[in-house]
Amino acid sequence: MKAARIAMATALAVTSWAVFAKPAAPAAPAPQDIVAAREAGMAMSAATLGALKAGSANGAPIKGLGFAAGALDKWAKAMPALFAPSTRGLPSRAKPEIWTDPAGFAAKAAALASATKTLSAAARAEDKDAFATALASTGAACKGCHDSFQTPPPAPKAG
Ligand code: HEC
Repeated sequence: MKAARIAMATALAVTSWAVFAKPAAPAAPAPQDIVAAREAGMAMSAATLGALKAGSANGAPIKGLGFAAGALDKWAKAMPALFAPSTRGLPSRAKPEIWTDPAGFAAKAAALASATKTLSAAARAEDKDAFATALASTGAACKGCHDSFQTPPPAPKAG
């Protein structure tokens, strides 16, 4: 009986704590988190682009590729903001030119967004030829930015 009362009191205490304890406000992401998010997004965009290329080459129904094409388009629009000034100088493969030539970087980002918009529209329209063309210009837009604004991958260790 006593044990039951203690258990009840404990349960009550826990419940009232849960009701009254204010959860801490979510903190803004730390600059390192922003770097990790953009690197993850870039890696996923490469996976998505690879899947789209494979689908297109295999003659998969274009409509079925619409979701992935739309995801790439969303990423293209969201991605530039992840190169926030707060992330400048942190370990990453982002070149400092991103922040010394913001107009140049924005133009490369806009080229990708334009290609993915066309890609997404071609999928919705089930236009195979337009889709293949937009896929090529999407890949070219990735490379176009990397050539100017991404440092090359570290050389493999000798030996
Ligand atoms: C506007 C410039 C820009 C565009 C467009 C762009 N990238 Fe990137 N990408 C970068 C930069 C800068 C980095 C290095 C980021 C870092 O290390 O924080 C990067 C990194 C990457 C990485 C390495 C991610 C990792 O694991 O660290 C991959 C993979 C990648 N991009 C793929 C793509 C693909 C695929 C596209 C096109 C769909 C694309 N990128 C479009 C600028 C761009």
